[in-house]
Amino acid sequence: MNTENNNAMLIKARGLKKHYRRGIETIKALDGVDLEIRPGEMVSILGPSGSGKTTLINLLSCLDAPDGGELEVGGRQVAGLSEEELVGVRQGVLGYVFQKFHLLPTLTVAENVELPLMFLQRPVDREKTLAVLRLVDLENRAGHLPRELSGGQMQRVAIARALIADTKVLIADEPTGNLDKANGEAVFALFRRLVAEKNLAIVVTTHNLALGALADRIITLEDGRIIEEKINPRV
Ligand SMILES: Nc1ncnc2c1ncn2[C@@H]1O[C@H](COP(=O)(O)OP(=O)(O)O)[C@@H](O)[C@H]1O
Ligand SMILES: [Mg+2]
Repeated sequence: MNTENNNAMLIKARGLKKHYRRGIETIKALDGVDLEIRPGEMVSILGPSGSGKTTLINLLSCLDAPDGGELEVGGRQVAGLSEEELVGVRQGVLGYVFQKFHLLPTLTVAENVELPLMFLQRPVDREKTLAVLRLVDLENRAGHLPRELSGGQMQRVAIARALIADTKVLIADEPTGNLDKANGEAVFALFRRLVAEKNLAIVVTTHNLALGALADRIITLEDGRIIEEKINPRV
């Protein structure tokens, strides 16, 4: 086994900055953040509302461009790349999970999961779709419509959708924000399982300290800076 490759850094950020102008005021939404993400680790990002969690997640996902610092995703420098090139960087590396699921209501569960493949113009393999749905315990719901599912199930479909294109890093912004306690815990238990079984990397923001504490590394943001980083010993 080529361990060197398996441990290759998936995301490497140095001095990441994002500033917003509001009138004459400049808001330092992110003010020099260093972060490294490796395969097989789950990193949670905590911090009060407005501390820069979403800004950081959007930069790491290449959905937004930094105003300063360096960012490498899947071994490629992100700075200065065009929209089209960024799509290429995201492909096969990043999967994104939203707070509000964003499933298409007229498509079945399986079709929702397969959507990224359509965008990437890759062949759809229903067996593979079912295998990914099995990972999130929803194989028996493949033919259902989203409205026939609970919120927790919808979020697990969204997670399956984020995994379908051979994703290496799952990035989730407040994925349990719209879920009750039990469903939120189920999502984090699923994350732990994906990290262990698939060697996936997961970066997840949350307001919930108890859920955040389930990660391997717990990073706390305040005013756009990392003020604390805790490492959970592996047992
Ligand atoms: N598009 C934007 N324009 C102006 N200010 C923004 C924008 N997005 C976020 N901000 C500001 O940046 C700071 C960090 O926001 P955000 O990353 O959404 O924090 P969090 O996700 O931790 O609540 C906040 O002060 C917010 O008001
Ligand atoms: Mg946010």
